[in-house]
Amino acid sequence: MAETFIKIPDNYSGYHLSHFCVPKHYEEDLEDIMIPWGLIQDRTERLARDVFQDVKNEPLTALCVLKGGYRFFTDLLDKLTALNRSQASVSVPLYVDFIRLKSYENTDSTGDIRVVGGDNMVSLSGRNVLVVEDIIDTGKTMEKLLAILKNHQPKSVRVASLLVKRKSDSTGYRPDYCGFEIPDKFVVGYALDYNEYFRDLNHICVINDSGKKKYLTPQGSH
Ligand code: IMP
Repeated sequence: MAETFIKIPDNYSGYHLSHFCVPKHYEEDLEDIMIPWGLIQDRTERLARDVFQDVKNEPLTALCVLKGGYRFFTDLLDKLTALNRSQASVSVPLYVDFIRLKSYENTDSTGDIRVVGGDNMVSLSGRNVLVVEDIIDTGKTMEKLLAILKNHQPKSVRVASLLVKRKSDSTGYRPDYCGFEIPDKFVVGYALDYNEYFRDLNHICVINDSGKKKYLTPQGSH
């Protein structure tokens, strides 16, 4: 049987930047395009279908993890609402909520994961919650967030992450829905950032060394 996610192998070399449209201001900063925007859309359409079939007529609160998850969140929600329009026999009333976490400085997890804003999580009590995240790296952020959510007594919690990185220091955490499993490289674009840069890039790309240097933030300056 096929895996429930698309596995991008370690020896995958991606697409050359010149084969797709990339903003001029990032041309020098990227190694290659790992996942073009169109493929993200197609994969998200399938994840939305999987979520829709699992939830079956129950209301669902989609919880967007800001800022990195916002594009995946809006595209997943678009596809879920399209299913609600087109399926006569199943309907999933949707609610949206937002939360902001912070854990990264440059390319290193600070280990200090903080909820720095968003909705009051008290409203999640008794709800079916779908956490929508951009990427699971070590898994620490998600495990911490799930522990926080549990305190608010939701009816159920599922997690959709567009990306999961293959990491030697992973906690072993796996989301319920995963778009792509990717090699251990720092990726940007499609709302994933490096020190707040690259959110305005459509494709998921691998940042190069000169990009990392150019947009380096001195530790503790955020
Ligand atoms: P974890 O706690 O190590 O799983 O880190 C998860 C968080 O780190 C994500 O929500 C992202 O904000 C950030 N992150 C990890 N890897 C990347 C990456 O390759 N690009 C951009 N952000 C990343």
